[in-house]
Amino acid sequence: MLELIFALRDGLVKPGMQDDLERILYHETTILSRLDQLAAEISKEYRDRELTVIAVLNGSLMFMADLLRRIPLPLTLDCLSVASYHGRAETSGEVIFKQVALPDVVNRHILILDDILDSGHTLAAIRDKLETAKPRSIKVCVLLNKKKTRARHVDADYVGFEIEDEFVVGYGLDFMEQYRNLPYIGVLRKELIPKSGK
Ligand code: IMP
Ligand code: MG
Repeated sequence: MLELIFALRDGLVKPGMQDDLERILYHETTILSRLDQLAAEISKEYRDRELTVIAVLNGSLMFMADLLRRIPLPLTLDCLSVASYHGRAETSGEVIFKQVALPDVVNRHILILDDILDSGHTLAAIRDKLETAKPRSIKVCVLLNKKKTRARHVDADYVGFEIEDEFVVGYGLDFMEQYRNLPYIGVLRKELIPKSGK
């Protein structure tokens, strides 16, 4: 015990990431049982249709892996990578697509998966871009939906949890690329988030 205290004092051992959280919102078991329900809804809806899932990396990585393993339908999976935050906690509004070619979605039934719907910029930009590639249908599934007025209107067809307008991390969600590996979702302590100066 004393050794641990000295190691902490000397900066050799970092305190747990959970110390940076104000509170835990959803434990892993809660998330997984909600995913059981979402997966059942999605499986019912797409049982007679060929499904193409497009997951938005990196945030939806855990969500995608746990949700898709609960959907017992034939489906294809593509991932998109976009950036809009540039290391801050507020969106810049500009969405940058990191890949050169978009997945082939002509005539496909598309389900877009993302970690969180916040300002709506990211999902609106992705939806607009995919629509130009003439899919048969596009639906949106997010793990978290922030209750707020959005800059861009986006309807999420499937939502894991409705949350207040607070900055959350864990289970794939990051702050400056940290915390993605927390197995649960929590609210980041406000003093850790630099003011944007806006
Ligand atoms: P939007 O474009 O503002 O809707 O933001 C979508 C993206 O911003 C998400 O895919 C996340 O990567 C990120 N984001 C928005 N809110 C949060 C949050 O509370 N925690 C972590 N990332 C967030
Ligand atoms: Mg992010």
